[in-house]
Amino acid sequence: MSEYKYLFQPLKVGNLVLQNRVIFGPHVTNHWPNHLPDDRTVAYYEERAKGGVGMIIIGASPVDETANYAPFVQCGLWSDDCIPGLRKIADATHKHGTPLCVQLVHPGIHQEPEYDPDGHVAVAPSEIPAIEIPFNIPKELSVDEIHEIQDKFAAAAERAQKAGLDGVEIHGAHGYLLSAFLTPLKNKRTDQYGGSLENRARFLLEVMSKVRERVGPDFVVGCRISSSDMIDGGVEPEDIAKVAAMMEAADNMDFLHVSVGLYRSMSVMIPSHVSGLEPGYQADLTAEIKAAMKSTPVFMVGRINDPMLVDRLIADGSADACVIVRELIAEPEFVNKAKENRIDDIRPCAYWNQSCLAHIFMGMRVGCQMNAAAGNELKLGKDTLVKAATPKRLLIVGAGPAGLETARVAIERGHQVTIFEKGTETGGQLNMMARMPGRSEVRNWMDWLLRQVESSGKGDIRLGSEITAENIDEILAAEAPDEIIVATGARAAADGRSSVTTEPIPGHDLPHVFTYEDLLGAEPAGEIGKRVLIVDELADRIAPGIAQMLADAGHDVEIMTRWPSIGHESLVRWGDLAPVYEALDELGVQTTTDSWLGSIEAGYVTAFNIYSMREWQIDVDTVIFSTMKYANNALAKLIGDRANVPVHLVGDAIAPRQVADAVADATKLAYEI
Ligand SMILES: Cc1cc2nc3c(=O)[nH]c(=O)nc-3n(C[C@H](O)[C@H](O)[C@H](O)COP(=O)(O)O)c2cc1C
Ligand code: SF4
Repeated sequence: MSEYKYLFQPLKVGNLVLQNRVIFGPHVTNHWPNHLPDDRTVAYYEERAKGGVGMIIIGASPVDETANYAPFVQCGLWSDDCIPGLRKIADATHKHGTPLCVQLVHPGIHQEPEYDPDGHVAVAPSEIPAIEIPFNIPKELSVDEIHEIQDKFAAAAERAQKAGLDGVEIHGAHGYLLSAFLTPLKNKRTDQYGGSLENRARFLLEVMSKVRERVGPDFVVGCRISSSDMIDGGVEPEDIAKVAAMMEAADNMDFLHVSVGLYRSMSVMIPSHVSGLEPGYQADLTAEIKAAMKSTPVFMVGRINDPMLVDRLIADGSADACVIVRELIAEPEFVNKAKENRIDDIRPCAYWNQSCLAHIFMGMRVGCQMNAAAGNELKLGKDTLVKAATPKRLLIVGAGPAGLETARVAIERGHQVTIFEKGTETGGQLNMMARMPGRSEVRNWMDWLLRQVESSGKGDIRLGSEITAENIDEILAAEAPDEIIVATGARAAADGRSSVTTEPIPGHDLPHVFTYEDLLGAEPAGEIGKRVLIVDELADRIAPGIAQMLADAGHDVEIMTRWPSIGHESLVRWGDLAPVYEALDELGVQTTTDSWLGSIEAGYVTAFNIYSMREWQIDVDTVIFSTMKYANNALAKLIGDRANVPVHLVGDAIAPRQVADAVADATKLAYEI
């Protein structure tokens, strides 16, 4: 604990005293079937309370049934039905001394009638649609309707109070209704709620005042606000500093939680690893708002992933406490591990947004690609791991994510593990991801996983050790495993097979044709010519990543995809779209959508539009496939034939999927062995 000057200093927030300066921040989880919590929801929050956080703020919860936040499914604060469930969560976090608040939201334009069974229309300060939602033109609110919504905020806060929570956070950020009133980009009104900054802030200030009036002085009331819209013509930190000062002067606010951006600036609000934004990147913006505060505690947020960084941000005066979301989804014990000086054991978030942000956009519960227990605490949480009755000798084949995660959990259960890896490095396909520009952060997680296995004293990793038909009997005799796990992963389809033609692409075996693995492997293969065509079906990070890498190195690059856009849908869900498209545009990468390859010849390819079948030729020097993958499962058959012990397949060796699936498969398997 001595390492930290501020992290473990208590902080007074209203009538609460937080035991440390780390707050599990508000985030939509979709952990609320029928807008109510279930046992999994309770366990999700309790796990982070056990992990030692100073406070928890449940994510945006709608105050108005006619603006129920569709497509998200969050706590329905519009009805007393939410009270018993919320009380269960409060009781669970209070057991560990952790105060609990809930964030109150009216989604405004981010109510999507298309996803709402009752088709409620979106409402807004003015008839301005949101750029990211096709054809969702909102209804402009009347003054009477504004007052009704304010009363709903107050009623929702009272329900949280009745449920035994410690406070509420009013969501005045991210382009939701209150923030939409603040920004001139969305608010074109000419009445007392539009025009001057004072008028645009009126809705928010009146909500704060009505909430305070309803819950009294002892219940914590905070506000979240975006320091800047990060869009030309939007609000800037100097505007928000004035709004913050108005709120402090009104004396209804116990804390101010500063975030940044609107949905349109999502890649700054919830940046992924390709954003180029450093951990703690919102420090200067937050400090500008904090400078306008006399005594209100200010919280900051943004890729905070290291206890020392928390300490530094508080020491710098950027904020009084740090709000963390994704790192705490990945590592619920962040605070306890810091306290125990076990920094190396803190599981790093990879900031890929793949099972957190992407899940909520897909209507799924929040999880974590690097931590299968997140959202599954009842089955895989900290206290569910039991030592194996009989410790076994396990032989794992393959040191990619699935192999290493199986090893990590199996070792925790008391097993002894030997890993045979035919390559010269651990990490499997993730190494390839990490070699692409701006995408190296995943290495932190791979290093953590390796550390966990190596430092246990129960994991023996043998690199450059291939199991073949010739040496298998000898290896089995020498290792005498009780069980074998085959985690041999997947390989890129070198024949260019895809779902489009379902056959290999003619010409795939020519010397100027490569796969993404050839380029990104430990020993990159082949000569890449000036004109490069990347043929993409995976629609993930690989094609744009390679394109960036090659265009940066001076190649003329075109990506051809069978989808209507590059990284179709995935890049939006992962929050990668803006930084990736910006980079591709700046590097002059050409993109051709809805198209595929008919054949490859020396010097050119024949392409076709997959809908009209129109054909054309493209002159190219190099073709790179990012098409389908094949499971590496041949070894499993060989081992199954020769070994007299149980053999399990895990991860991509079953079927090529996402890293989240490999990690989840591995954790579950290791629980069962
Ligand atoms: C899955 C997910 C859901 C989120 N939902 C909310 C929300 O309900 N309310 C909110 O104010 N911010 C929300 N955010 C933004 C976070 O509160 C936070 O500002 C952002 O993730 C940056 O913090 P981090 O880098 O520690 O994750 C969400 C973020 C994620 C990843
Ligand atoms: S899914 Fe990825 S970005 Fe989200 S919390 Fe887990 S590691 Fe972090």
